[in-house]
Amino acid sequence: MATYAGGVTALAPAVRVSGLRRVYGERTVLHDLDLDIAPGEFVALLGQSGSGKSTLLRALAGLDQDVDGEGRVSVPAKVSVVFQDARLLPWQRVLANVTLGLPGDQAEHGMASLSEVGLAGREPAWPNQLSGGEQQRVALARSLVREPELLLADEPFGALDALTRIRMHELLRRLCDRHRPAVLLVTHDVDEAIVLADRVLVLAEGRIAAERDIDIDQPRDSADPRFAEIRSALLAALGVTTETDTKADKA
Ligand SMILES: Nc1ncnc2c1ncn2[C@@H]1O[C@H](COP(=O)(O)OP(=O)(O)O)[C@@H](O)[C@H]1O
Ligand SMILES: [Mg+2]
Repeated sequence: MATYAGGVTALAPAVRVSGLRRVYGERTVLHDLDLDIAPGEFVALLGQSGSGKSTLLRALAGLDQDVDGEGRVSVPAKVSVVFQDARLLPWQRVLANVTLGLPGDQAEHGMASLSEVGLAGREPAWPNQLSGGEQQRVALARSLVREPELLLADEPFGALDALTRIRMHELLRRLCDRHRPAVLLVTHDVDEAIVLADRVLVLAEGRIAAERDIDIDQPRDSADPRFAEIRSALLAALGVTTETDTKADKA
């Protein structure tokens, strides 16, 4: 995979994908897909189940050896990935999970990261002593301690209850405002995408089929009329017709 040499010009994108194709057997999942993400930009990716969201994310993470990405995928040197499950090592304590694989003694750095995600004092705990939401916060701390220029997240809140998810949204937004990585957040939750992202993309038929800039100030209120308008447009792009749209069509 090509690596983008950071800081060449202020306008160079953090992520550049051009003409990316991924074929499984007979099936073309990504079809000459193009995508740029600016440094510090927060992009959410929506798409129906099976549309290729995780396939795209894996290609950007360098986890897909078979992708036809030669010269077509350019990402920064420091990339962190967060998945739906926290993927902590059960035989390592929380702090060791955060600093795992980092060179030298990073205990202080790891503790600062845990404190940022609201887990100060939980360093000596074992992963199975934490709730699902807390484990996901450890996963975020583990990502951020590496100071990524690109954060890739594949439905990171999909397994959490609704209240925990709202708290995680606030946390992720705060962390991203502070650390300013470029972000690609895969989600099937339209409201989550609109609450968090600067730009929302819809993946369909192997390409970016629709996109919307979200120019509503943070923190965003889902009661804002612009929110509802963006939601309907994105749902339509996803092939979902809302009840209100159906009524309007009939009127
Ligand atoms: N390793 C694989 N082998 C064959 N088909 C796969 C493999 N991984 C994913 N697919 C297929 O590619 C399509 C896209 O999968 P995926 O990227 O996981 O979708 P999404 O994350 O949008 O739900 C699906 O039809 C899936 O069955
Ligand atoms: Mg997926």
